[in-house]
Amino acid sequence: MSSLPPVLIRGGTVVNADREQRADVLCVDGLIAAIGENLEAPPGASVIDAGGQYVMPGGIDPHTHMQLPFMGTVTQDDFFTGTAAGLAGGTTSIIDFVIPDPKQPLMDAYRTWRGWAEKAAADYSFHVAITWWSDSVHADMGTLVRDEGVNSFKHFMTYKNAIMADDETLVNSFKRSLELGAMPTVHAENGELVFLLQQEMKAKGITGPEAHPLSRPPAVEAEAAQRAIAIADVLNVPIYVVHVSCAEAAEAIARARARGQRVYGEVLAGHLVIDDSVYRDPDFNFAAAHVMSPPFRAPEHQAALWRGLQAGHLHTTATDHCTFCAAQKAAGKLDFSKIPNGCGGVEERLSVVWDAGVNTGKLTPSEFVAITSANTAKLFNIYPRKGCVAVGADADLVVWDPAATKTLSAATQFSKNDFNIFEGRTVTGVASHTLSHGRLAYVQGDLRVELGQGQYVKRPAFGPVFDALSRKAALSAPSSVHRAMAA
Ligand code: URP
Ligand code: ZN
Ligand code: ZN
Repeated sequence: MSSLPPVLIRGGTVVNADREQRADVLCVDGLIAAIGENLEAPPGASVIDAGGQYVMPGGIDPHTHMQLPFMGTVTQDDFFTGTAAGLAGGTTSIIDFVIPDPKQPLMDAYRTWRGWAEKAAADYSFHVAITWWSDSVHADMGTLVRDEGVNSFKHFMTYKNAIMADDETLVNSFKRSLELGAMPTVHAENGELVFLLQQEMKAKGITGPEAHPLSRPPAVEAEAAQRAIAIADVLNVPIYVVHVSCAEAAEAIARARARGQRVYGEVLAGHLVIDDSVYRDPDFNFAAAHVMSPPFRAPEHQAALWRGLQAGHLHTTATDHCTFCAAQKAAGKLDFSKIPNGCGGVEERLSVVWDAGVNTGKLTPSEFVAITSANTAKLFNIYPRKGCVAVGADADLVVWDPAATKTLSAATQFSKNDFNIFEGRTVTGVASHTLSHGRLAYVQGDLRVELGQGQYVKRPAFGPVFDALSRKAALSAPSSVHRAMAA
């Protein structure tokens, strides 16, 4: 018998990716037990009055880096503080990254990350990065898919001399992903060009954060996106492009999709609302705090990303939550290429996307659910357990007050970092309550989290259609990914 009291969410509007309905939602033993009008509260139930509010699937952030060792340091937020911050903003699951060092066995790195993540306050899963290639990597990919519930592999096409995957690695890993029914994903930037442009900037004496976007222009991202898409096309494997930041990369995805290729794109909340002027700020700390890759872009790119989400060429929103404090960013005071790359956002994503998307009429509430949880759950094969308010689904829910406002700030955030890229932005639309497995984890400013309450989420491999594709048969049949996306 569970000691968890039932929770009845009464009087709200339930929003799924395909519909809205006025209904109560009853959560029992961590699952959604009933959805309907005038539900009775069981004895001992906590009752939430959701009148005037939406009841939506908890956010799924498909791209975070908690406790990441990167560029000689380790991120501020670990799996506890990072997932707790997510819960405060309505995000109930993250998909983080295991990033093996080159030559490090995948399974060693995977076990290390699983150990770090045991303290998570909310659910978590892992993409595993392929940073090198060998027979043992080939074998470990199989073990990860078959035994550990990993159904996606990440490829960094940049970070030369560190974790960059060359074309040989991409080709081998994409092919192996197809055999296994896993989704290859890419960070699309041409690492050779970035490296060259960084040297050129420094040779010209441009050493501050203003050089960061100059060394990573849109063409560098577009080239890598097109190359990855072309490799995936030849091999007949679906591909997911993380943090698409510019019009050129979004257009490459749209073109491939128009040809019938299964290409999916992710957008970061930050890239939707912040532009590249941040790098020209004379305050080093402010500019360096925004150093992430790909960089923030000129405003016209934000418009292209919104259009991509609206048109369905881009599918998910994420944050790439990867927090470094001012003291860590200062490592690049004399050389911008040494500033640890990364920014936060796991706590703010839902409010930022709602405020800039729904409140402006760009997105409907259902489209908001699609790009903040449902599409991610479908693409990474955990739908409808996650990303859907349905009987039998995990009771991972956010009660969303569309009238409440909040001014985002490092001074009030739950994240451990000392900076907030959305500082001073007032948003309308905030989480009033967040439930994780039916447990009230956040109640109107009160974060109720404990170490280790999150669970590891296994994501099964995609099956029959990947098999068909790998046999080069039934090429015109819709993939399970496509069927899920159309559902
Ligand atoms: O700058 C970023 N994005 N840091 C995290 C690592 C990555 O590239 O995703
Ligand atoms: Zn990246
Ligand atoms: Zn990342």
